[in-house]
Amino acid sequence: MRLKDKTAVITGSANGIGLAAARKFVQEGCKVVMADYDEGKGAAEAKKLVEEGGDAVFYQVDIADRESVNSLAERVAQEFGGIDILVNNAGITRDGMMAKLSEEDFQRVLDVNLTGVFHCTQAFLPALLSSGKGKIINTASASGLFGNGGQTNYAASKAAVIGMTKTWAKEFGPKGINVNAVAPGVIETEMTAKIPDKVKAQMNSLIPLGKFGKPEDAANAYLFLASNESDYVNGIVLQVDGGIMM
Ligand SMILES: NC(=O)c1ccc[n+]([C@@H]2O[C@H](COP(=O)([O-])OP(=O)(O)OC[C@H]3O[C@@H](n4cnc5c(N)ncnc54)[C@H](O)[C@@H]3O)[C@@H](O)[C@H]2O)c1
Repeated sequence: MRLKDKTAVITGSANGIGLAAARKFVQEGCKVVMADYDEGKGAAEAKKLVEEGGDAVFYQVDIADRESVNSLAERVAQEFGGIDILVNNAGITRDGMMAKLSEEDFQRVLDVNLTGVFHCTQAFLPALLSSGKGKIINTASASGLFGNGGQTNYAASKAAVIGMTKTWAKEFGPKGINVNAVAPGVIETEMTAKIPDKVKAQMNSLIPLGKFGKPEDAANAYLFLASNESDYVNGIVLQVDGGIMM
């Protein structure tokens, strides 16, 4: 068991990559706090994991809202004490070409993908520090590394997440906390289900492995960065993209 006796908070774990990570983490002996905006799906998925023998709870949160995140962190501190792992996985897209991108769509993506990660990390820092040895995993994206047409807001938010990851690796490393990012390419989730088939075919043709990733592929990277196997890994951006951009 690679995460035995550890406690993790995974944001955005009602669906997609976060949910795959929650399942993997409980299977590795971790207590998992599934934190997501989507209460109906999140509560149902946590119940399923418990029925499968896992140790998981669901708490509702809007990571863009500082008060909501602070309430979550207080609840986790009361019920679990310190935590060992924070996975800042929740994220959204609101794509649009630059010429027509609305202020609202630009701002909401930054509020969730960038400010949300700032809120969660600040709120859970005391709980991570109290464990004396922690892991923070931030979810970036190939878009944040290389840009992507139609994703000004999203690429900006994910590039900023990479900047915060490297900064926190330097700030928190001396305090026993490793901070790393995972940059998925195209992973088959709700987020990518809305991409038109023609665009999907074009994207697929750029991937040397010739296929899109599964949520479990990204979750495996989270698991590595959450486990003791990555104890000497700090400040990296681990690409999980089938080699889409080399
Ligand atoms: N799917 C991909 O191809 C891909 C590629 C690169 C990066 N990513 C990143 O991976 C992460 C997970 O993406 P996914 O594909 O699993 O997406 P998804 O849409 O399947 O799941 C995202 C989850 O985040 C939750 N969420 C959204 N806004 C929230 C908020 N304000 N507060 C709390 N929870 C919120 C949603 O309810 C949902 O459960 C995201 O950060 C995304 O940007 C995904």
